[in-house]
Amino acid sequence: MKKLFALAASALAFTTVNAQDVQLTIHPEQGKDIIPNEIYGQFSEHLGSCIYGGLWVGPDSDIPNINGYRKDVFEALKDLDIPVMRWPGGCFADDYHWMDGIGPQENRRTLVNNNWGGTEEDNSFGTHEFLNLCEMLGCEPYISINVGSGTVEEMSNWIEYMTADGNSTWAKLRRKNGREKPWKVKYIGIGNEAWGCGGNMTAEYYSDQFRKYSTYVRNHADNKVYKIASGASDWDTRWTDVCLKNIGDGKMNGISLHYYSVRNWDYKGKATDFTQQEYYETLSRAIQIDKCIKNHREVMDRLDPGNKIGLLVDEWGTWWEVEPGTNPGHLFQQCTMRDALVASSSLDIFHKHTSRVKMTNIAQVVNVLQAMILTRGKEMLLTPTYYIFKMYNVHREATFLPATLTCDRIVVNEEESIPVVSTSSSRDKNGVIHVSLSNLDMNKDHVVAVNLDGLKVTGAEGEIINGKNVDDYNDFGKAELIAPKTFNGAKVDKKGGLTVTLPAHSVVTLTLKTK
Ligand code: AHR
Repeated sequence: MKKLFALAASALAFTTVNAQDVQLTIHPEQGKDIIPNEIYGQFSEHLGSCIYGGLWVGPDSDIPNINGYRKDVFEALKDLDIPVMRWPGGCFADDYHWMDGIGPQENRRTLVNNNWGGTEEDNSFGTHEFLNLCEMLGCEPYISINVGSGTVEEMSNWIEYMTADGNSTWAKLRRKNGREKPWKVKYIGIGNEAWGCGGNMTAEYYSDQFRKYSTYVRNHADNKVYKIASGASDWDTRWTDVCLKNIGDGKMNGISLHYYSVRNWDYKGKATDFTQQEYYETLSRAIQIDKCIKNHREVMDRLDPGNKIGLLVDEWGTWWEVEPGTNPGHLFQQCTMRDALVASSSLDIFHKHTSRVKMTNIAQVVNVLQAMILTRGKEMLLTPTYYIFKMYNVHREATFLPATLTCDRIVVNEEESIPVVSTSSSRDKNGVIHVSLSNLDMNKDHVVAVNLDGLKVTGAEGEIINGKNVDDYNDFGKAELIAPKTFNGAKVDKKGGLTVTLPAHSVVTLTLKTK
């Protein structure tokens, strides 16, 4: 790690542990919103080695595979129990013509992936390969439709091909290509980043396009589509405002938001070699998604007071300069404990907003940006972010429990500061409370006094993920440096109080026994 930058904050002054310097009061009786499964969604784009080499190696590969799906990756994703996967892009979606990716492999067109590094795309992974993978993983498919360079007819045929029963030409073609029954495709995104790579449209023009396209997104057989509008980038609430006003409810079920934890798009910084200042700036940018969501919510609450339209953060995560020696267009990056803390603090924020935020999709599932899994030839590793998702699975479909957190803040610069701890709590279907705590402080341990507003804690056990250094990561051919371990830092006292000692830059998830 480079020389550390001295931050002007008393909280940062030294590495001594304060006795109970963080107070967390969880309010179990105030819990009402269920954290949807889809908050834990994934994104897979035809970009770099996300699909080819990551999810798919083809049946003839010497890399072990199940009918072409890479076996180690498939098993890791199955174990993660992912709820939804977005495909085929991203920017690629508005260049994708679905008929190139159906039928006998030898007849599929080979094209250039003009968005991502000019790589040849042989279309060997297409509609059947994606939808069958989703079925095997037990996750919902989320298809992003080509609006930028496609047509309404092409889209409408695709939806019929995937979801119609009966004897229409498209249903028959699907059968001829080996799939008898229609698939279930719940989530359809109409375009991607329509303000940029998806056609450089104005909000006004796009919302008219959405009105037209969505008319022909039909519910075939018993498939019921949830229609998603291509939403804003970051802080662009005008986009959300125009779309909601011009499209209105009834035509769209959700609108997306893209937010990456990037400070400077001209130089995004290195994934594994960063200063203390860069570390805190990244965490600060990640946490600002709270404010960003609030801003979009304000618009939505005003224009959709009945809360019928969901906000879907269908791209989020870190984005660094690519790993040295890799194709700059392939967005292959490592993932350290810093990325893990971005993931945990972002999930904490999404949990708070689930009355409006109905899905999020981290970018991306394998080998691209803040990935769950990295592969190199036959090798494969699980990133610290994978483990955060694993540890946080306990919160899925649980009731979010509001909480009051009192802690120091770390000053990042004249305008920004971050709390030393990020947290979220939930109560699952069996009434069990789970608490996640992230220590965002790079240097200091913090001691959290947890109070359950009336309930007594009689036991607490769980897991911790941490690295010796915040820039530690799991590397190919080396022992895994970052993986969850049993946590021994939770102490329950006779009065039912709970004290948790959080090592610097760590994430803990606890299961509580209460009475
Ligand atoms: O996730 C990488 C790219 O980021 C996506 O293709 C695009 O939608 C966004 O700009």
